[in-house]
Amino acid sequence: DTIHSFQEIFLTWYHQEKRNLPWRANTHPYNIWISEIMLQQTRVDTVIGYYYRFMEEFPTIQDLANADEQKLLKIWEGLGYYSRARNLKVAAQQIMDDFDGVFPNTPEEISTLKGIGPYTTGAISSIAFGLPEPAIDGNIMRVVSRLFEIDEDIAKASSRKVFDAATRAIISHEQPGEMNQAFMDLGSNICNPTAPRCEECPIQQFCLAYKNKRQTQFPIKTKK
Ligand code: ADE
Repeated sequence: DTIHSFQEIFLTWYHQEKRNLPWRANTHPYNIWISEIMLQQTRVDTVIGYYYRFMEEFPTIQDLANADEQKLLKIWEGLGYYSRARNLKVAAQQIMDDFDGVFPNTPEEISTLKGIGPYTTGAISSIAFGLPEPAIDGNIMRVVSRLFEIDEDIAKASSRKVFDAATRAIISHEQPGEMNQAFMDLGSNICNPTAPRCEECPIQQFCLAYKNKRQTQFPIKTKK
């Protein structure tokens, strides 16, 4: 059927084209967590060096829980949004205290950690634990709004549930983390905001907005 053929085509493209990034070398939840927090407000090219230095300094959850605050902020220097770094240490302490030092493996528990919202919960659940959870950010909303011509205003918090449901309907249950990262790569390299490169898009044949030549009309975003 259509969904399975979509998944097969999209995942095949991802496996051929995926960027070789340090946090894609394994699926340890600690590594995925740190990378996803860094990537939230910072570009991939910038994050790579920070990610290596962070892992060198704080290789385990325990090291992070015991981190010297000044050393932590020094490592973070230049990344900005310093509350992210402080929250990481608090969450590492939560994992030590509430989960016996083992990264929790359900979305419900993961979302109790300081600094981890719905996007990061979905990213960790899917990439580290293989759960079919969406990881909804601006990139995926742009891709999915075009795919289905979703005319919900992405500036509204209430739209999240529409994108969550649409993404749940098409996410691979075999390779959810790969699929979420396929959306990320597609959103940053092909399905760009203003000049999407639809001729190179692996899922062009499934895209309603492309079919109707309306790709640049999505996503819908009102000014706040
Ligand atoms: N942006 C957010 N998460 C990412 C990931 N896992 N890979 C590439 N870009 C990302």
